[in-house]
Amino acid sequence: MKIFLFLFVTLLATCHGDVVSHEHGSTNKIFPLRIKTGPGGHYIPEVSCSSWRLGVETHNVINWKTVPLECETYVGNYMLGDQYRADSKTVNREGYYYAKTLNISGDGKDIWVFDIDETSLSNLPYYAKHGFGVNPYNDTSFNEWVDLGKAPALPESQKLYKKLLSLGVKIVFLTGRPLKQTDITAKNLKLAGYHTWEKLILKDLSIYHGKTAVTYKSSERKKLEKEGYRIIGNVGDQWSDILGTNTGDRTFKLPDPIYYIA
Ligand SMILES: *[C@@H]1O[C@H](CO)[C@@H](O)[C@H](O)[C@H]1NC(C)=O
Ligand SMILES: *[C@@H]1O[C@H](CO)[C@@H](O)[C@H](O)[C@H]1NC(C)=O
Ligand SMILES: [Mg+2]
Repeated sequence: MKIFLFLFVTLLATCHGDVVSHEHGSTNKIFPLRIKTGPGGHYIPEVSCSSWRLGVETHNVINWKTVPLECETYVGNYMLGDQYRADSKTVNREGYYYAKTLNISGDGKDIWVFDIDETSLSNLPYYAKHGFGVNPYNDTSFNEWVDLGKAPALPESQKLYKKLLSLGVKIVFLTGRPLKQTDITAKNLKLAGYHTWEKLILKDLSIYHGKTAVTYKSSERKKLEKEGYRIIGNVGDQWSDILGTNTGDRTFKLPDPIYYIA
């Protein structure tokens, strides 16, 4: 909670008002498209960043590599501000409302699959430092951040986690993090307040090297079902967390306009 507040205040202190003017500067004209010059003299059509974000969340905009240059401030503002938190709350609350209606068996086989990054844990401190726009992701520096084991919880997901536990649902964490990050990930989860789980599944690169997240996660969920688990819910920030096979009885998509994983 404290870290988010700190980041938000930092953003307010550094971003001035240019996002707001972007939002309010648009007119009702549809045609002609206003053309804007980007770096290197390329002409880029002005996009509505909130429409772009909607496109991302609805999986209409796919396979994108970076946030559009002109949306970097918008996305940073969204992620560090109230709207991201409100959106996360809505998703997780729906998850709880749904779970409450279920008849959870007492056999310990009803599970809820949680993704980790930008779902259970938040890497916002990393992105706040490195930026939200063109290539903030650097494998080396990101793994240095992960290896610190200090990622905070996404508070709204943690609330769902706790409520599910109280309903008797078991938690399975399924993440694209590589197997070698198992210990630090377990430590980080505990530090962030996730004290118990049925399974913590990381990506075994000897099996899944070069495979997409959809393939990897589908295959691991299939194994869970073969072991007799019933996936009653599945939550993640990427569409690849909830597409494919064995996706669970209901899926929940958290917001994430900062990166795309196929
Ligand atoms: C819940 O499950 C128990 C045990 O299987 C069953 O006896 C009961 O009828 C179920 N209740 C509902 C509302 O489905
Ligand atoms: C990536 O991060 C590492 C470690 O912080 C740094 O040494 C390296 O220069 C970075 N690479 C790029 C391309 O920025
Ligand atoms: Mg994720």
